[in-house]
Amino acid sequence: GAHAATGASAFDFPEVTAGIDPDHHVAEGYDADVLLRWGDKVFADAPEFDPTAQSEATQERQFGYNNDFVGVIPLDGAADHGLLVVNHEYTDPHLMFPGIVTIVDGEVQIAEATEERVNIEMAAHGGTVIEIRKVDGKWQPVLDGELNRRITAKTEMAISGPAAGHPRLQTVADTSGRKVFGTINNCAGGVTPWGTYIMAEENIHGYFIGELPEGHPEAANYDRMGIPESAYDWGKYHDRFDVSKDPNEPNRFGWVVEVDVMDPNSVPKKRTALGRFKHEGAESVLNKDGRVVFYLGDDERFDYVYKFVTKGIYNPEDRAANLDLLDDGTLYVARFHDDGRVEWLPLVQGEGPLTEPNGFASQADVLIETRRAADLLEATPMDRPEDIQPNPATGRAYVMLTNNTKREEANAANPRVENAFGHIIEIAEEGGDFAATTGTWEILLKCGDPAIAEVGATFSTETTVNGWFGMPDNCAVDAEGRLWVSTDGNSPSKTGRTDGLWAVDTQGAARGTSRLFYRVPVGAEMCGPCVTDDMETFFVAVQHPGDGGDDWEGFGRPSYYEDLSTRWPDFNEAMPVRPAVVAITRQGGGKIGMAKDQA
Ligand code: FEO
Ligand code: CA
Ligand code: CA
Ligand code: CA
Repeated sequence: GAHAATGASAFDFPEVTAGIDPDHHVAEGYDADVLLRWGDKVFADAPEFDPTAQSEATQERQFGYNNDFVGVIPLDGAADHGLLVVNHEYTDPHLMFPGIVTIVDGEVQIAEATEERVNIEMAAHGGTVIEIRKVDGKWQPVLDGELNRRITAKTEMAISGPAAGHPRLQTVADTSGRKVFGTINNCAGGVTPWGTYIMAEENIHGYFIGELPEGHPEAANYDRMGIPESAYDWGKYHDRFDVSKDPNEPNRFGWVVEVDVMDPNSVPKKRTALGRFKHEGAESVLNKDGRVVFYLGDDERFDYVYKFVTKGIYNPEDRAANLDLLDDGTLYVARFHDDGRVEWLPLVQGEGPLTEPNGFASQADVLIETRRAADLLEATPMDRPEDIQPNPATGRAYVMLTNNTKREEANAANPRVENAFGHIIEIAEEGGDFAATTGTWEILLKCGDPAIAEVGATFSTETTVNGWFGMPDNCAVDAEGRLWVSTDGNSPSKTGRTDGLWAVDTQGAARGTSRLFYRVPVGAEMCGPCVTDDMETFFVAVQHPGDGGDDWEGFGRPSYYEDLSTRWPDFNEAMPVRPAVVAITRQGGGKIGMAKDQA
């Protein structure tokens, strides 16, 4: 049911009813139009998508799988013309390739990958840069856009910053330690003030197979990162993903990658100054003093919240002068004190315990093993830090902590043991200075069903039965400073609803009120919320629809030709279910979620 706006709320739209079904749903009065699906053309001469005749060559010209981060980089300052940048985080072979799933004694088995399948998977990873234009109120891709580009797990990239060229980054395939092929598991990301595209490498451990040679010096490093996990078969055909054959290759992943989208032939750069861990995203803000501050989550149970402050100053008059700002600056990790203070601890070689006797002979060592350096600094282990979004107007930043069911001891910043539903922390940097090394923090929300007392959720009493959520993951702050939160992991058994996009009040009497704006089809996760500067479009990424609807009408992990829970977005038996980016606009135009007279 619709819920009338209270006077105090910053949002005004009719709330979507929470639930679960094969389709997506947006608030009444809005359109949710599919803009780009897996397999859609990224170039005018790309082949049409044919799920039964996939190849590496076709996938390299088509939109990749499992869209995650979405950003818009305006062209010529226009509100109706720009570059859409989209991460393709990972692949779901059971939903992509016909005939590879069998059920043996009730257990789902996925066939071992062929070399061809591995190469398609590698081409379906990475990112897409594609020109888009709004025509008659609707966005459409511009397939002959000269800046259109696919980035894959094979695209040549440079390693830059303090760790570039270090022996620990040198491999059989690249003795320079400066050149790497591809980027993997790009989760959230960012767009910089100078208009580049940031891709964050997250769960890189899954791509490696094999065993390190006995007594290899990287053993502790890889153990801390969970490498190898052998979730993919790539290492069977590409030696660099087998740590027994090319032991240093994992040190070349887990970085933040920057792409200069204005040159389609530019070599993307892995910016080592921002550390190596399971990077969720890299949202940034221009500080008052001209430095740029990037907030970085490390998405693992008991890992940390980071920020990076550039040494140099952003120059709005000279784009080229900003292009290497990310090679020099200070990386900090957060310690959340129980008394409500947050302290940002610099990860600088030679300071405190970050010394040669502890294995940090150079800044490169600190960056390659960021997690171990942060352990020694006694940063606060958190409940899986995901997207972190600064609000430039208030000097605050919102930290999504998605869940941590393994937490046995609570503390003030992680207040629940067996934290199944996650929480959101609001950081207020000292004096509104994003580069400050101190600040305060408080919990904005403890998530979960407020009707179940044991859950301990703290949504406001204005929040309806549709408005609460669990598992915050990505988020966005719009031009009015309003917070939007998207989720990963809501399901029938956990919360009786799909994932979606929720509007969360942070100010005044309505603080802690949440309402549902959009929800995804069964099995999907909600990624990439990106609101345009004019607030007239919300781009959202529907990731892995049809997957993991584990307890919906009794089906397990579906295969391509099995009974699928949904065939979104095509609803065509000849087409698999497909991840897609959706553009949400207001019918008749106007700003999203604003009262009619302000829209
Ligand atoms: Fe790729 Fe942390 O979600
Ligand atoms: Ca996610
Ligand atoms: Ca974000
Ligand atoms: Ca997640």
